[in-house]
Amino acid sequence: MTPTPVTIAAEDGQARNPALPTPESALAMRGMTVSYGEKPAVFSVDATFPAGAMSAIIGPNGAGKSTLLKASLGVVPRLSGAVTVFGTPIEKARDRIAYVPQRASVDWDFPTTVIDVVQMGLYRKVGLLGRLSGAAAQQARTCLDRVGMADFADRQIGQLSGGQQQRVFLARALVQDADLYLLDEPFAGVDAATERAIIDVLKLLKSEGKSVVAVHHDLATARGYFDHVFLINVRRIAEGPVETTFTAENLNATYGGRLSATHVDELTLTGGAA
Ligand SMILES: Nc1ncnc2c1ncn2[C@@H]1O[C@H](COP(=O)(O)OP(=O)(O)OP(=O)(O)O)[C@@H](O)[C@H]1O
Ligand SMILES: [Mg+2]
Repeated sequence: MTPTPVTIAAEDGQARNPALPTPESALAMRGMTVSYGEKPAVFSVDATFPAGAMSAIIGPNGAGKSTLLKASLGVVPRLSGAVTVFGTPIEKARDRIAYVPQRASVDWDFPTTVIDVVQMGLYRKVGLLGRLSGAAAQQARTCLDRVGMADFADRQIGQLSGGQQQRVFLARALVQDADLYLLDEPFAGVDAATERAIIDVLKLLKSEGKSVVAVHHDLATARGYFDHVFLINVRRIAEGPVETTFTAENLNATYGGRLSATHVDELTLTGGAA
């Protein structure tokens, strides 16, 4: 007999019981507050990102998007909040997550080659003192190939263009063979071809059953790229399926009226690029 799939009723896409982390959610946080000083950068945020879907975190500069990801991962401390990954406390699920930080936050002068950067993605599995086998090197090359960077394997990372660096960081995430991919603005500062290459890789991951959560700035492509959106401006503004959540009202609430009415209409009515 086929078991009946368990569904969690969430008519508004938000109401889930914090006491019951659901395996259906790839990433969930409850009561997340983060502060670098007196004013919180992220305040009392609940969020649920569905498993097997492509989700976007959207909000203006300084809204706390990067902070939300970093605090989830424990890269910056949270004042309060619990985070689960596939229903398990994140501390016990680290090996299921690959994280690609915002490019601007990385020191690109670090003297290392492209292939080494990608292989670093394997250290969590092998251990820092473990030896990377020939098979590992082959795996790293395969992932570089998937992002169209195989010819650059022996180049110094600092000698790449911004878009090429972004592709290498995606390759490093791919080699981890994670279940949840967290990406902070993967399309920032890349040309159309690189954007296409990256979105194709992300869609392929989704087709393999993986979950993707990406900070995304380009409102015009949000509908075409993502299934689920989370709108934030320090606090959660809205979350849910892109069709019902990416609305003029929610965008206005997120950006505080800083987008022109015509622009919002275009974004929410025409549906953006696929
Ligand atoms: N290390 C830090 N120390 C102090 N304040 C910080 C630090 N990192 C971020 N902030 C502040 O916290 C707030 C949220 O920053 P965050 O980087 O999370 O925003 P963001 O939504 O990712 O913005 P962007 O779209 O510009 O990347 C901002 O006001 C920022 O100035
Ligand atoms: Mg950011």
